[in-house]
Amino acid sequence: MLGQKILLVALLLFAASPFVQQAQAKSRATSTNSAQAQPQKKPATSAEQTPQTPPEPLVIPPDAAKVPNPEKPTAQSLANGKHRYDIDCAMCHGTEGDGKGFLAVSMKLSPPDFRDPKALKSTTDGGLFWVISNGHGPMLNEKGRASKKDIWDLVNYVRTFAEKKAPAKSK
Ligand code: HEC
Repeated sequence: MLGQKILLVALLLFAASPFVQQAQAKSRATSTNSAQAQPQKKPATSAEQTPQTPPEPLVIPPDAAKVPNPEKPTAQSLANGKHRYDIDCAMCHGTEGDGKGFLAVSMKLSPPDFRDPKALKSTTDGGLFWVISNGHGPMLNEKGRASKKDIWDLVNYVRTFAEKKAPAKSK
């Protein structure tokens, strides 16, 4: 019993001390003039008002770019890639990969035209995997939404847009 009482008192003291300090700080703040308190508000609002900052240039970590694609572009892989693409990507990148999805248009984004063989030519499969996993600028990341296999399937599917236009050469 005695032990419990001591504990209770100790607890009360502990709980009371920051409370008391806060109350004292408050009374001090209200007694000094309010002009001093105002500048604190400014940085928060100005930071929130700049969502239109241009995205940083896309830089794929070299290590990520070297990761080989473990998924062959089988019919199953491409079908799964298309399924996910139509749900998560087409609104920006367009069903045909032209980069003119309704969301890209309304957000005034200009994603690359995947049909252009040059668009992703210099990006390795590992690099695409990294971009799709991590997102970039307004493009959200797929981590957590998709499994690794799903993301490789997306890589395989995204590649097909350019292949349709220029079927002759591969890789
Ligand atoms: C909100 C719109 C939006 C969505 C949704 C979106 N993207 Fe993007 N994506 C972009 C924009 C904008 C860029 C250009 C980014 C940049 O270079 O700054 C881009 C770039 C890319 C690139 C090009 C990377 C490179 O090397 O140039 C790939 C690949 C890509 N997206 C794949 C996808 C896939 C796959 C999905 C769906 C899982 C997806 N994106 C969803 C807007 C979007």
